[in-house]
This record gives sequence, C-alpha cells and structure tokens, in this order.
Amino acid sequence: MVIIDGKLISAQIRSELKIVIGQLCKVTGKTPGLAAILVGENPASKVYVGMKSKACNEIGINSFVEKLDENISENALLNVIKKFNDDVNIHGILVQLPLPKHINQDKILNSISVQKDIDGFHPYNVGNLVIGHDTFFPCTPNGILELLERYNISVSGKHVVVIGRSNIVGKPIANMLLQKNKNANATVTVCHSNSGDISRYTVQADILIAAIGKPEIIKENMIKEGAVVIDVGVNRVDADSEKGYKLVGDVDYKNVLNKVSAITPVPGGVGPMTIAMLLKNTIKAFKLINNID
Ligand code: GUN
Repeated sequence: MVIIDGKLISAQIRSELKIVIGQLCKVTGKTPGLAAILVGENPASKVYVGMKSKACNEIGINSFVEKLDENISENALLNVIKKFNDDVNIHGILVQLPLPKHINQDKILNSISVQKDIDGFHPYNVGNLVIGHDTFFPCTPNGILELLERYNISVSGKHVVVIGRSNIVGKPIANMLLQKNKNANATVTVCHSNSGDISRYTVQADILIAAIGKPEIIKENMIKEGAVVIDVGVNRVDADSEKGYKLVGDVDYKNVLNKVSAITPVPGGVGPMTIAMLLKNTIKAFKLINNID
C-alpha cells in the first residue's frame, strides 16, 4: 500500500519551477507576477490565499494580494480585475472562491483576461479543456493528474469514479480524464447529490476521486479491493487541538487503508498540489504573454 505524498511532490515541483523562473527572468529581464483577490473574511479562504502568496514569493513570483471588504460592490470588484488585466506586471489573476452571495460569480470569472486566467475558470478556457485543447487546467484536477503520473499510476483504460460535480474539481477532472491522450483515456463515472446510493458506483472504481466536502463519508465497504483513492476533501471538524478543529478528508482514511493500493492523505495529499499547479500556470501565463515556447 502506497501513501501518495503530495507534500513531497509539491516541494519537488516548486524547486523545479524555481529554476525555470530564474532562467525566464534572465532571458526576459522581467519577473512573473500573480494577483490574488480575496473578498471578505472566510477563514479557509484567508489561509489558502496566504499559502498561495507565500509559495509565489518562495520561488521568485511577485505576489500581490488584494484584500477587499465583504460588502464590496460587484462593479468595484470588476474594476479591481480590470486594473490587473491591464497591468503588465501581472501575468496571473485569481479570485478566491467562494464569493459573497451578492456578487455574481459568473460575471466576475468572465471578466478575467483569458490569458491571465491561471485558475482556468473562464468559460473560454473551460471550453478548450472540454474539447481537448491546451488551456489553463484548473489547479486541483491538474494536481491530481500530476500526482498519479509521478507515482506511475496509469489511468488509461481504468474506470475512474468521481464523486462531486463542482466546476472547480468534479467537472474539470472528469473531462480531463476522458480525453484521448496518454495521460488520460479513462472510463469516467460522475456521481453527485442526486445519484442515490453512490456505493453502487464506487465499488466499481479502479480509481476513486472523492470531492464531496463531507467528512469521512466514503467508508471501507464502498471501495473495491486494491483501488486507488484520491481524497480531495478538506473538512474542518471539531477537535481538542490548539485551533479547536482538525482537517479530515471525504474518505474514512484509517479504515480504508488496508483495502486500497494507494491513497492520498488529508492533509498532505492533493492540497499542496493545488498550489504547485497554480505556480505552474502562472509561469505558463508569463510565457504566453512574453511569447516564449
Ligand atoms: N476555492 C476553492 N478552490 C479554489 C481554487 O482552486 N481557486 C480559487 N480561486 N478558489 C478556490
């Protein structure tokens, strides 16, 4: 049984990217820049944006964090995005989700320059992903594929069951796995909140990707012997710790361990990969904008 170490792989990727950035800065005389927009006080979002910004600075990407009030108007937020769209020192823009209820998320994501859309959430980039063209691949799905690849776990010809149909994870990973290329070419089933008893599908999975957002709901009896389990869930549950909570995945980790052939832990599995892929996409945007292959 293999525990897939996302923290280790993420660190490896970040040191690879640091070298690439050094070379790019030398060649262009410019430095890649990422703008992260954080609206409101969501505690998890604050932590994520802080980690993203720190990761940028560590490898030589200039990071700008725009912290905005919970009550900011949609128009004012659109203006902030326009400012970054027009700024030659910014190559990647991310708006941390979720946004407050009074803001139309689609309108905001639509306003990000498609060339700077390092989260890959703009409908133009989503469309390119679905038809199998190169694009900015959303960070969490891309991180999952990168982890599988680096652990030599082929998905080609396998039955992958994805649980969750979000625009951030479920839909993009399902579409990426479907593509006819060597790192994909899987048979994909997507389960969601209206699928009824999901164990009917999960027991058939060679690779199970859980992206539901409910603590430890994937139990041992829902998994096929020898399956690969990728746990995308990051759930805060009350705990007797300094912070008053601990993080658990969507999978009942301890009890599935002796049944799986490989599994990602929470924390330290998929999470760190999301950040590594964000950095990779920022470099991709920098190269695109500067016409470098
Ligand atoms: N919220 C949860 N995941 C993500 C992500 O990958 N990007 C952004 N911008 N917001 C998120």
